[in-house]
Amino acid sequence: MIIAIDGPAASGKGTVARRLAEHLNHAYLDTGSLYRAVALSVLRAGADPSDAAIASAHARDLDPNLTEDPDLRSAATGAAASKVAAVGSVRSTLLAFQRNFAVTPPNTRPGAILDGRDIGTVVCPDADRKIFVIADRKIRAERRFKELLGRGEAAIYARVLDDLQERDARDSSRVDAPMRQAEDAMLLDTSHLDPDQAFECALAFVTSGTT
Ligand code: C5P
Repeated sequence: MIIAIDGPAASGKGTVARRLAEHLNHAYLDTGSLYRAVALSVLRAGADPSDAAIASAHARDLDPNLTEDPDLRSAATGAAASKVAAVGSVRSTLLAFQRNFAVTPPNTRPGAILDGRDIGTVVCPDADRKIFVIADRKIRAERRFKELLGRGEAAIYARVLDDLQERDARDSSRVDAPMRQAEDAMLLDTSHLDPDQAFECALAFVTSGTT
């Protein structure tokens, strides 16, 4: 089984995906971490993440260890990730790995769960189940703000809100694989749900019609 989970930053899609994967014993891939790793590689080289040729070169030579780097989750890496993600050749370089993960999950798991922006539309358009997770932008900003503070980053709420708005706009307006809900995806609004409730909704949808 392949489960595709998409949605904007801090919508709760990662938590839902991780918990589903644990519950179903499926392999889990946070595809955002791939774009973040490319971005971190570009930033560490002191280069411009919007430069298509540079971003592509870093995607092709990506060091997989960067996906575990402590700086991966910083606000700066997130903003740069959305810039490298707008580069078509970066996306095509990362596509094969994601599709392969979905079709042949590691450790012979019975299924794969991928979360991102274009999983249900581009990476796995034939996924068995698709969920598009949303939440009110102010609530997402609040969540991201707390997460950054928790990691010791000097965050300012208004700045976090602006960054999210900018990232949402860039992710949904880019030409290549823009963020959007697949026609056959269930819409899950987590604005007023806690993580347990969001997980239960997702699980009910994923297991509906299966034995
Ligand atoms: O999900 P996360 O916030 O970690 O993703 C970082 C950035 O990577 C997003 O803002 C988006 O631009 C990009 N991304 C993407 N396609 C995916 C996953 C992430 O374009 N499937």
